[in-house]
Amino acid sequence: MKTISIIDAKNHVDEEVKIGVWLTNKRSSGKIAFLQLRDGSAFFQGVVVKSNVSEETFEMAKELHQESSLYVVGEIHEDKRSPFGYEIEVKSLELVGESQDYPITPKEHGTEFLMDHRHLWLRSTKPYAVMQIRNEIIRATYEFFNKEGFIKIDAPILTGSAPEGTTELFHTKYFDKDAYLSQSGQLYEEAGAMAFGKVFSFGPTFRAEKSKTRRHLIEFWMIEPEMAFMHQEQSLEVQEQYIAFLVQSVLDNCDYALDILERDKEVLKSYTKTPFPKISYDEAVELLQNSGEFPDTKWGDDFGSPEETYLAEHFSMPVFVLNYPKAIKPFYMKPHPTREDVVICADLLAPEGYGEIIGGSERETDLDNLTAQIKKAGLNEKDYEWYLDLRRYGSVPHSGFGLGLERATTWITGEEHIREAIPFPRLLNRIYP
Ligand code: 4AD
Ligand code: MG
Repeated sequence: MKTISIIDAKNHVDEEVKIGVWLTNKRSSGKIAFLQLRDGSAFFQGVVVKSNVSEETFEMAKELHQESSLYVVGEIHEDKRSPFGYEIEVKSLELVGESQDYPITPKEHGTEFLMDHRHLWLRSTKPYAVMQIRNEIIRATYEFFNKEGFIKIDAPILTGSAPEGTTELFHTKYFDKDAYLSQSGQLYEEAGAMAFGKVFSFGPTFRAEKSKTRRHLIEFWMIEPEMAFMHQEQSLEVQEQYIAFLVQSVLDNCDYALDILERDKEVLKSYTKTPFPKISYDEAVELLQNSGEFPDTKWGDDFGSPEETYLAEHFSMPVFVLNYPKAIKPFYMKPHPTREDVVICADLLAPEGYGEIIGGSERETDLDNLTAQIKKAGLNEKDYEWYLDLRRYGSVPHSGFGLGLERATTWITGEEHIREAIPFPRLLNRIYP
């Protein structure tokens, strides 16, 4: 007899198999017990008919507590009524680990309670579905960048540089020196691009942001491609192809998870059409001013969540906002060729109210300008000598961007809050569990 995973049930119809499972719920009458089972790969039902099993097996089925672990042996059958499509007709049960008074019952719980029990909550259907999709986004990311000829260059997590500004740094001691947790791997990816042409990093990043919004994590994962001999226009093409590829991969490979989340697949499908709409920051300001909703918007403002939501909703598609004011963007961005006040950059805003999912730009290539910008940002030039070397020895036009994994996951899964998109969220007031 084969030991299988629930997800493989379709390949074993009418066969007898053994599966290691946990019990999520059950109901029983005098003659039949229905066990809701999961093994991490999927969820399905076990049917225990009293007249078909030993007395011990039927008694055990009736006595089992939620989240007890067990082996079930039985025959797989189609079950057209369930979303999964298969069930197991139980022949015997073997208890592996007892469970008592599991705190997460099938009733509704508040978010804080669930977050306090995140280590257990992960076992429930919704976290299961979100983590499946998050994993697919990770898998598809590697597939996309490998097929496009990028190589993965890991950026350090302990660093002495502050690419995204000094106000949101996590400080730590590095023996007798000072160090920070990485805000972004970008500067190191620029070194990588000069060595390998097309590179990407995918790692944890940290922002000591005092933001308590449904879009901000303190610790999140970022995918940061960087490309040598590339201007911004071409980088935008890579970005839209990458996003379309991610959405298509989730549609192709996560049908069951999307069904659990009741995510509208037609809507997702519409996001695979490229090119994405593009507007300038100037046009975005005008749109907001004329919307009636944001009459106080001034040129030079950074957009908050409501503004980003409005802009993306206006297009019902991911939309690029190009060329933001220099004053609100980091030191490394290349100035616009004909305008003093803006830089060559773009944010990609996701529709349905999800806001910025990508930030990217063309990078300053000129040594003197870059040195001046570093000073102006209040950074210590000595810490950036290595970065300036990239402009000293064969500086070339180059561009790159960063996609927040959890922002993308929240959007594609249609979840309300970014805390659902990472296994163990770090939030302003949460570092437990
Ligand atoms: O726009 P950001 O700050 O850009 C950078 O860090 C660049 N160095 C990237 C690059 O060009 N290589 O961050 C990039 C993305 C955002 O668009 C967003 O998706 C995500 O990272 N992000 C966050 N996600 C969750 N919580 C936060 N606090 C985030 N801050 C940024
Ligand atoms: Mg940004």
